[in-house]
Amino acid sequence: MIEVQQVSMVYPNGVNALEQINICIERGEFVFVVGESGAGKSTLIRLICREYLPSKGSIKIHGRDITRLKRREVPLLRRNIGVVFQDFRLLNNRTVFDNVAFAMQVIGSTGRDVRKRVPEALELVGLTGKAKMKPLELSGGEQQRVCLARAIVNQPALIIADEPTGNLDPKTSMGIMDALKNINIRGTTIIMATHAKEIVDTMRQRVVVLEGGKLVRDERRGEYTHHGC
Ligand SMILES: Nc1ncnc2c1ncn2[C@@H]1O[C@H](COP(=O)(O)OP(=O)(O)OP(=O)(O)O)[C@@H](O)[C@H]1O
Ligand SMILES: [Mg+2]
Repeated sequence: MIEVQQVSMVYPNGVNALEQINICIERGEFVFVVGESGAGKSTLIRLICREYLPSKGSIKIHGRDITRLKRREVPLLRRNIGVVFQDFRLLNNRTVFDNVAFAMQVIGSTGRDVRKRVPEALELVGLTGKAKMKPLELSGGEQQRVCLARAIVNQPALIIADEPTGNLDPKTSMGIMDALKNINIRGTTIIMATHAKEIVDTMRQRVVVLEGGKLVRDERRGEYTHHGC
C-alpha cells in the first residue's frame, strides 16, 4: 500500500534528515517509527502526508507516486490520510462535535452524513457524552482523542500519528493506544512515530528504527530496544 523507495531528504539549510530509506507497508499494518530525537521520524511522516517533497526517491501510495502529484491533486490524497499531531491543533472556540464535523465539512459531506458519522467516530474513541464540550474543558487525553476522532471521521485508509501520546501520562496514553488498535482492527493502516518505549513493547507490532536519518532496524513484532546479539 505504501512504498517508500530510496528516499533521501536534505532540508534547504543542508541538514541531511533522511538517507536512502526503503520501507514497504501493507494495508492494515500497524507500524511504529522510533528513534532518538532528530533521527528523522517527523520528516518521514511529513513526506508520507506530502507536506514536504523528498530530495530523492519515490513514495507510492496505492501504486501512485505522491511525489509526482499535481498541486490540485494533493487535497484528494489528504482526504485519504488522517493525521494526528502531538499538539492537538483543535479549534478551541468550537465544540467537540464541531471540531470533528469540520473535517467532514471541508470535503463537502452532507449534513446527514455529518450527523451520522461524527457520533460514530466519537464513540470509537470513547468520547460519547462529550460532544457539546469545548476542547479546553477536556483533559489532555480527551483532547487527543478528539484529534483521533477528527482523523478517522472521513474513514481514511491510513492514519499517521506523530507522537500522539507525547504529552500524556502512561494510563491516558494506553487509552489512546486502545482507540488506535480498535481502528486498526477495522482495517485501517496506522503509522505512529513515538518515543514511548512502554507502548511499543506492550503492543508488539512492527517497529521501524531510524538513527541519524538511516533505517537501522525493521522488525515484524518488534520492541523498542534491540535484544539480539
Ligand atoms: N524544517 C526543517 N528545516 C531544517 N531542518 C529540519 C527541519 N525539520 C527537521 N529538521 C532537521 O532534520 C533532522 C530530523 O528531524 P525530525 O524532526 O525528522 O526528527 P524526529 O526524529 O522527529 O525528532 P523528535 O523525536 O525530536 O521529534 C534534525 O536534524 C532536524 O534538526
Ligand atoms: Mg518528531
